[in-house]
Amino acid sequence: MYSLTKQQKLIQESARKLATEVIAPRAKQHDIDQEYPWDNVKDLTNMGFMGMTIPKQYGGQGLTYLDTVIVVEEMAKACGVTGRIVVEGNMGAISTVMKYGNEEQKKMAAEFVLDGDKPAICITEPNAGSAASQMTTRADKKGDKYILNGIKHWITGGGVSRFHLIFARVFDEQGEELGIGGFIAIQGEDGLTIGTREPTMGLRSIPETEIIMQDMELDADRLIEPPKGLARGFAGLMNAYNSQRVGAGTVALGIAQGAYDLALEYIQQREQFKRPICEFQGLQWMLVDMSIKLEASRALIYKAAGNAGKSFPDIVEAAQAKIYAAESAIQVTSDALQMFGAAGYSRDMPLERMYRDVRMFTIGGGTAQILRTVAASQILKRKLPQTRDGYRKL
Ligand code: FAD
Ligand code: COA
Repeated sequence: MYSLTKQQKLIQESARKLATEVIAPRAKQHDIDQEYPWDNVKDLTNMGFMGMTIPKQYGGQGLTYLDTVIVVEEMAKACGVTGRIVVEGNMGAISTVMKYGNEEQKKMAAEFVLDGDKPAICITEPNAGSAASQMTTRADKKGDKYILNGIKHWITGGGVSRFHLIFARVFDEQGEELGIGGFIAIQGEDGLTIGTREPTMGLRSIPETEIIMQDMELDADRLIEPPKGLARGFAGLMNAYNSQRVGAGTVALGIAQGAYDLALEYIQQREQFKRPICEFQGLQWMLVDMSIKLEASRALIYKAAGNAGKSFPDIVEAAQAKIYAAESAIQVTSDALQMFGAAGYSRDMPLERMYRDVRMFTIGGGTAQILRTVAASQILKRKLPQTRDGYRKL
């Protein structure tokens, strides 16, 4: 149903070439150094893979999410972090600004991203993870400014991203709450500091940090107000966030596909009992189950991204794609490592890195449990009791 066009095949080919020839050989060292892959960012920028979805009038290519996921998968096969950079350079914060922002905000965001900046999207707080709508970061109106106070944590790119989209509760001058809005803040502006970096299990070359706002003064025109206003601001911002969820599922798929490709090659070379190990049915069935998971993940991702066109993916399709791709990818990567035996467990091989890298995708960007809740709420057309007092029909 979502067969690739000629142009998409060309995009895929050039992404694959960059990923296999340039990105893959660097992946191990970036993981060891735990330093942001600025060299990869430069290559992505030169190839036009940052800001692909930005409309042409703002300097981008006006491409779709489906075009983007094709690139994300290729990058993630070689390096999960680089896949994530492409996601955030085209989805999430940047697409929120491009859809909801005013002219100045769009121009500003486009300039950063087209220059290689991966925006940071700042939602999660120490006491508001899954319960994101209970965030306490606040923005108080004071004349023509907003004063921001609060702490975000687990922010991908903290310290390396320049452009930030910060979700906050908005209060008017009388102290009355108006709803939830998104604020643009730039690294280096007064009042914005980068806090502790998490010692993460995987995807170690991209920092996950606290972002602290202390009496941060922002001009009022840094507020992005979703179309239905601040009172519906959370729903509007999360609607935009569905694009990032599809992107995250794609990184998981890419890592798993990369692990599968390595295992497929290895089991045809490695001999035990005087035969290539691929001749054992135990591994053959495992291999086929892995391939089914990859194909099914890709179909869900292409469906969610393809149906979105240049708008945001559907809430249920995005959840389905992310849940299935993330859970499958963890299984497939683990099975690929298993096929390598002890060699898979060695830090000399990429399998153990892929296994660590893929683990986050049932957590970050909405846990697999929360995404099921979100999808169930839509399918059943009911508010579910996790987030409300008892079942209520929509
Ligand atoms: P909690 O909400 O405390 O959940 C703990 C457990 O309880 C989970 O298993 C969860 O599924 C379960 N649970 C909670 N509520 C329910 C419920 N109602 N029903 C069933 N189960 C439930 N955040 C950002 O804002 N920006 C980022 O860039 C970002 N990047 C991240 C990168 C990584 C690598 C990771 C790991 C996280 C990132 N996050 C980011 C944060 C991420 O979105 C949160 O970790 C996630 O939303 C879950 O919140 P929590 O960790 O506080 O878990
Ligand atoms: N797309 C579109 N709309 C969404 C949405 C999404 N992904 N998630 C929530 N909404 C809408 C809801 O449909 C609801 O609209 P309604 O008032 O018309 O019914 C509104 O936003 C508020 O959602 P609700 O479910 O009532 O909020 P809640 O506080 O009860 O639940 C969660 C919160 C679970 C939906 C939400 O906070 C969540 O997705 N948590 C995970 C956070 C996350 O992904 N963080 C990633 C950081 S990188």
